[in-house]
Amino acid sequence: MQYPIPLIGCAGLYILSFVILNSLRAQPAGFNYEEAKVPDYELPSVLKLNNGTQVTTSSQWIEVRRSEILHTFEREMYGRRPGKPKSVLHVVESIDKSALGGKAIRKEVTIRLKDIGPGFDLNVLIYLPPDASGEVPAFLGYNFNGNHTIQSDPGITLSKAWMRRGNEGGNVDHRATEAARGQSSSRWPIETIVGRGYGLVTLYYGDVESDHAEGWKDGIRAHIDRDQEGVVLDLEDWSAISAWAWGLSRVLDYLEKDDHVDAFKVSVMGHSRLGKTSLWAGAADQRFAIAISNNSGCGGAALSRRAFGETVARINDRFPHWFCRNFMKYDENEAELPMDQHMLIALMAPRPVYVASAEEDLWADPNGEFLSAKHASAAYGLFGMPGIAVEKQPSLNESVGDTIGYHIRTGKHDVTDYDWNQYIDFADRHLKQ
Ligand code: GCU
Repeated sequence: MQYPIPLIGCAGLYILSFVILNSLRAQPAGFNYEEAKVPDYELPSVLKLNNGTQVTTSSQWIEVRRSEILHTFEREMYGRRPGKPKSVLHVVESIDKSALGGKAIRKEVTIRLKDIGPGFDLNVLIYLPPDASGEVPAFLGYNFNGNHTIQSDPGITLSKAWMRRGNEGGNVDHRATEAARGQSSSRWPIETIVGRGYGLVTLYYGDVESDHAEGWKDGIRAHIDRDQEGVVLDLEDWSAISAWAWGLSRVLDYLEKDDHVDAFKVSVMGHSRLGKTSLWAGAADQRFAIAISNNSGCGGAALSRRAFGETVARINDRFPHWFCRNFMKYDENEAELPMDQHMLIALMAPRPVYVASAEEDLWADPNGEFLSAKHASAAYGLFGMPGIAVEKQPSLNESVGDTIGYHIRTGKHDVTDYDWNQYIDFADRHLKQ
């Protein structure tokens, strides 16, 4: 059968403009996507103390250099954070031992932050292997659109929180409806995760702070005014990313008490802005066994000085709430940064860390993510560990590295089964010996 020509024309045009629009959205114009145009830059040394002394031993790292770097990131980029709240209630809301047709145990837990404000709850969703009798290692990560989107399991409580997507993905007017169930399930292969003996722990990042410039008003930043040392913490002394990272630590506090999860074996994982968050969470809270960054890009794993794809000025302009006030000093001024993102990854040392890129995700600067991982390896050397152990970015779909893992897979900015399979293999290597 032959289609009438005008119909092909319209449909073709529609598909073409959809493809073009999507790729423009993924790779905004006016930024550098060419390796040859990366400016010359010099990275600050992971192993040089602020006073210029070279660090040669692991104890110098543990006692001095690590906290120097951590404080630099706190001061200049992500901001400080509060300590552990005094009054917290953990409520196990439900347990279903035959969720997903008997393939998993599902548990919902409320973390009620009582000293922060009435009704300030973190709603945590946990899936466990069906036969889990003792404690299992787990992956912990925020979801973008509510717990109910990670699986079409009708037993998951529908989030009542404000959603970033207004009228798409099953939301109406920024609120979830039943139609939102399972919308992000391709990013959460629960059966594979529990099938390989891991728990999956997730919560909606908007439970801590909504992701927009005014989001702090209903989030924890409106309620807390002291950092962990009791020093005054103004709104712009910290940031949404620090608040979200702090929330992950509160979930870990709960997991320390949960009989089914081994809190010493929790890998904190996140995609994109939530990958920036997982790296900062792992850096700031050394209880996390592994940190995993999936396509985290600018402000996450990618080196800022390369100004490839997204830049410091652009991220501060579009997302002014993600970083603390001081980070704006580096708009179009990356050379003045006292640190770069390889030092964020180094803050995991000697704990394992995994960085993943995607070939089409140029906005996130895949090579800049790789180089960060590579330059972070110096800190692992102090512990006699090889770090990434390769000189060059590996070929597509090849996972490399030892204590620092890395891959670049085919495809776009996303979380895929391929990514998860690498994370599970990496966790097996480091947590299951
Ligand atoms: C934007 C932003 C990125 C971020 C991404 C995401 O593209 O510029 O920095 O990683 O959103 O979180 O999806």
